[in-house]
Amino acid sequence: MTIRYSKQLADLAEPLDAVADPVQEAVKAVPKPVRDVLDGVWLGNPLHPALTDVPLGAWTAAAALDLVGSEAADQALLVGILGAVPAALTGLNDWSHLQGDSKRVGVVHGLLNTMGLTLNVASFLARRDGRRGLAKVLSGVAYIGALFSAHLGGQLSYGFGVRVNRTAFESPREKFAPVCDESDLNRGKLVGVELEGEAVVVARSEETGEVCAIAATCSHLGGPLDKGEREGDTVICPWHGSRFHLCSGDVEGGPAVYPQPRYEARVRAGRVEIRAAKG
Ligand code: FES
Repeated sequence: MTIRYSKQLADLAEPLDAVADPVQEAVKAVPKPVRDVLDGVWLGNPLHPALTDVPLGAWTAAAALDLVGSEAADQALLVGILGAVPAALTGLNDWSHLQGDSKRVGVVHGLLNTMGLTLNVASFLARRDGRRGLAKVLSGVAYIGALFSAHLGGQLSYGFGVRVNRTAFESPREKFAPVCDESDLNRGKLVGVELEGEAVVVARSEETGEVCAIAATCSHLGGPLDKGEREGDTVICPWHGSRFHLCSGDVEGGPAVYPQPRYEARVRAGRVEIRAAKG
């Protein structure tokens, strides 16, 4: 399925906004420390893609074992069912930030996964009752749905850019270039500038007095950090509240998991000059 068909699928799912929007609001009400764990801030990588390997792998094994008539399929199915729960929770958390087409494709992805999980639970219960024929049909249908849903997950990442590092392709030149006046940084202001087409936010550290600069395009979903709120030496993204250190670019609060690229900064004759930092 191409990105064009995914967008058509999103159009079909638009009526579900009436349900999706309140669900997103409910997920956003979950305490931030819990959400940071689900985002994978502690890991430095998004958690959901890693966790989805467990149910998909286990259900693939179950399908193969069913094909050869092995009852070990039942255990594989159970591992997949148990693994689907954390995968679903992290996916729901990721999805709560999405808007427009990506939100709607995410709704279809989530519904397919919910139906697949339900069918697999029914299959597991049927196996315990000795109705293996019915059980195989149920888990077989669930598996086909899971494969299509996994494909939609890939579209969300690679087609819509969900949870990819939005700063991955920044490569400004290595020579210092003037970007603003030193006086622009007075009173703790965050100053948005551009260096060879890349948005950068410049500020003076309250702790050390040094001039600091990091990429202004939020690594989460591309929010403008120069429009964010400053708290001490951190900036809070105006879109979903990720917090970054203004000098190191380190993530100090999710949902972002990737740090902001850092720039070296110096002052020459009252002008702030920056260049890409090494390492
Ligand atoms: S774009 Fe989501 S936190 Fe910045």
